[in-house]
Amino acid sequence: MSTTVMAATAADGSQQYSPTTRGRVISVLSPKGGVGKTTVATNLAVGLAKEEPGSTVLVDLDVQFGDVASALNLTPQHSLADTVQGSAGTDTMVLKTFLTQHETGLHVICGVDSPAAADGVTAEDVSRLLATLATEFRYVVVDTAPGLLEHTLAALDETTDPLFVTTMDVPGVRGLRKELQTLDDLGMFIGSRYIALNLTGQRSGMSIADVEATIGTGVDLQLPRSKATPTSVNLGVPLLQSGVRDPMTKKLHTLVDHYTGRRDRRLRGRHIGARR
Ligand SMILES: Nc1ncnc2c1ncn2[C@@H]1O[C@H](COP(=O)(O)OP(=O)(O)OP(=O)(O)O)[C@@H](O)[C@H]1O
Ligand SMILES: [Mg+2]
Repeated sequence: MSTTVMAATAADGSQQYSPTTRGRVISVLSPKGGVGKTTVATNLAVGLAKEEPGSTVLVDLDVQFGDVASALNLTPQHSLADTVQGSAGTDTMVLKTFLTQHETGLHVICGVDSPAAADGVTAEDVSRLLATLATEFRYVVVDTAPGLLEHTLAALDETTDPLFVTTMDVPGVRGLRKELQTLDDLGMFIGSRYIALNLTGQRSGMSIADVEATIGTGVDLQLPRSKATPTSVNLGVPLLQSGVRDPMTKKLHTLVDHYTGRRDRRLRGRHIGARR
């Protein structure tokens, strides 16, 4: 469980947590590919890093075909494989030298160069890495590969806040229902999950009510199809970095506010003001 205890800021800008304090591990998940996980993960991470400098690390856990580096226009010197091998796997100070810095202040662990290079990364490596990062950062955002393969399951063991993304199509929505059911059967994450419906606004023959009825729970956020999104991905500049005015940008801010609690604070402030 995360805590809101303030942490000291280290020389490299990251925030040092005491061993008893853990940051939130927000894993972006979906049963299907191409639904917007990397788009959501990179924007959320950039938004959190801009909101609270030094607070956030983004981990590309799409172990074979991760594209976080491309989505952030980074040319990393080190990859996920480097962060779990040798002394980086056991020494937090060494691990921190393997993080790639993004211009927004976000720290990033980029994916490996080729699927073969992912062979050395085990599920235990993933659990240990995320557990360590959660002692160093307030927010650990994890981008995942589609489905519930071993690296994602290992990440789920450390996850405090699962963020599910789906599009409005029958295979995607049915896949999400099965994924949620599987996690429910395992007794995982009841109450703390968040569901984002991406690419809304296009005619798909499904309504939001249809989606909610199928998955058996409410949708927390609707992300509209937007022209600016593919452009931002191709340029490697997330919408929350460029700040381009777009309906998707607005909704991504809402997502960031959900995790920082900023929206709730604003609403409380308005409420108190109204009573005066
Ligand atoms: N709201 C949106 N509007 C328009 N295009 C979008 C939106 N969200 C995502 N896309 C586009 O959809 C494509 C897939 O997005 P993304 O790479 O984030 O999906 P993914 O779930 O990470 O895929 P994979 O499972 O292959 O990793 C990208 O080209 C992205 O620009
Ligand atoms: Mg992806």
